[in-house]
Parts: sequence; structure tokens; C-alpha cells
Amino acid sequence: MVRRIVILTGAGVSAESGVPTFRGPDGLWEGERVEDVATPEAFARDPARVQRFYDARRARLAEVAPNPAHIALGRLDRAWPHDLLIVTQNVDDLHERGGAVRLLHMHGELASAWCLACDARSPWRGPLAAGPACPACRTPGQLRPDIVWFGEMPYGMETIDAALMRADLFVAIGTSGQVYPAAGFVDLARHAGARCVELNLDPSMISGRFHESRLGPASKLVPAFVDEMLSAL
Ligand code: APR
Repeated sequence: MVRRIVILTGAGVSAESGVPTFRGPDGLWEGERVEDVATPEAFARDPARVQRFYDARRARLAEVAPNPAHIALGRLDRAWPHDLLIVTQNVDDLHERGGAVRLLHMHGELASAWCLACDARSPWRGPLAAGPACPACRTPGQLRPDIVWFGEMPYGMETIDAALMRADLFVAIGTSGQVYPAAGFVDLARHAGARCVELNLDPSMISGRFHESRLGPASKLVPAFVDEMLSAL
């Protein structure tokens, strides 16, 4: 019987809300080079450019809304009486707005700013390019996006590893399986004895490592999957 669930989500879960994915024809990394905007070296070289890139993405959050996949996961979170951890690689806030609470943003959050002067992380909705003061220490010009860039350590890895080691069920939703460590979660969970299910629009790089892959849009697959989970309670 399934009790302990770990769910990993990627850009595909937010695609139908109008948030672009990273890879593929209209992907974010088609228009921008990772090395220009998503590494600590890029930020050191040209902070204004990096800030503008994330300012634009942060501003978009006000224009998008959770879709049926986010809302179904919020419903699962409220109703599931056993362990559940939703790990997202997404930096948008659509899972929260869809009602998810047991949520971990492993790649950081657009709606948060990290102060390089005092190390505080503060909720942040506006732009950072003009170098505003940190709400915690008042130092100006030291806030960076609270985003995990390539070459940086994802957040919450101890919590995630522990949950994967205990999981009965691991579900990956809308992720292409090209970025580690998230792409390796299926191996950890499977090795630890979890059933592994993938819900994705197309076969991913790592489909073969799951026990089951269901293909289709997250807005259809996720609500159906959540219904199945809750009806088995
Ligand atoms: N429903 C389900 N899946 C979808 C949908 C949809 N409507 N639309 C797209 N997908 C799938 C694509 O088929 C693809 O496999 O979502 C996946 C998105 O893949 P990526 O764009 O690579 O996004 P992701 O896997 O989240 O990227 C991981 O890479 O650069 C980074 O840090 C960034 O967190 C991100 C990480």
C-alpha cells in the first residue's frame, strides 16, 4: 500500500499556465545562453543583465495563474494523510497558489531575494536591477535572485534524499530529466523500493528508468492521477 509519496515537478507542470519551459522549440534556453544569465560567473561579470533577466521572469508571475495540475497537487496535499513531499525545480510560485504546502523549491524562488551582505532571504516581488536595500540589514545593492544557478548546490538535498529513501511512490511530472541531481531521483527512489511513475508530455531522457510513463498534458494527467491516489485511500 502506498503511504509515502515524493513528487518531483519541472517546467512542464507550469507550461499550460503560460510559463515557458527551458528546452524545446520555444524554451527559455533557446533565447538565452545559460552561461550568460544562470551561473555565478555570469552574475559576477554582468549583474545588471542577470538581474534584468530574472526581473522580467518575476514580473510575469503576476500575469499567470495555477492550472489544473497545480490545483490537483494542492488537493492531494490537503487530503493525503501520510508523508508527502512535493519537490519542484520550478522557481515560479504556482504550486503555492495551487494550494501545495508540503513543498520544497530545490532551485530557489523568483519571489525571494538573497542578501549577499547579511545572508537573509526575504520575500520579494519587485525588480532588483536598481539595487534596492535589503529589508533585513538595509544594505543597498546586495540583493541577488534567490535562484540556484548552474554550479550551485540545490536547496534541501538532505530532506529530499531522506524522503526518497523512504518513499513508496515517486512521481516525476513535466521534467525532461536533463539536469542533475533531480534527474537522478528516480534511481534513488527505485533503488530504495519505490514504484516510479512519470507524467510527461513526451518521453523524457529518463523515461526508461520509470516503472510506468504516462504521456499527455499535465493539466489532464495530474488531476486523473490524484483522483486515483485519493480513491485508493
Ligand atoms: N504537460 C506535461 N509535460 C510537459 C508539458 C505539459 N503541458 N509541456 C512540456 N512538458 C514537458 C516537456 O516534454 C519536457 O520533457 O516538460 C519537460 C520540460 O523540460 P525542461 O524545459 O527541460 O524543464 P525542466 O526539466 O524543469 O528543467 C530542469 O533546468 O535550466 C534548468 O533550472 C532549470 O529547473 C530547471 C531545470
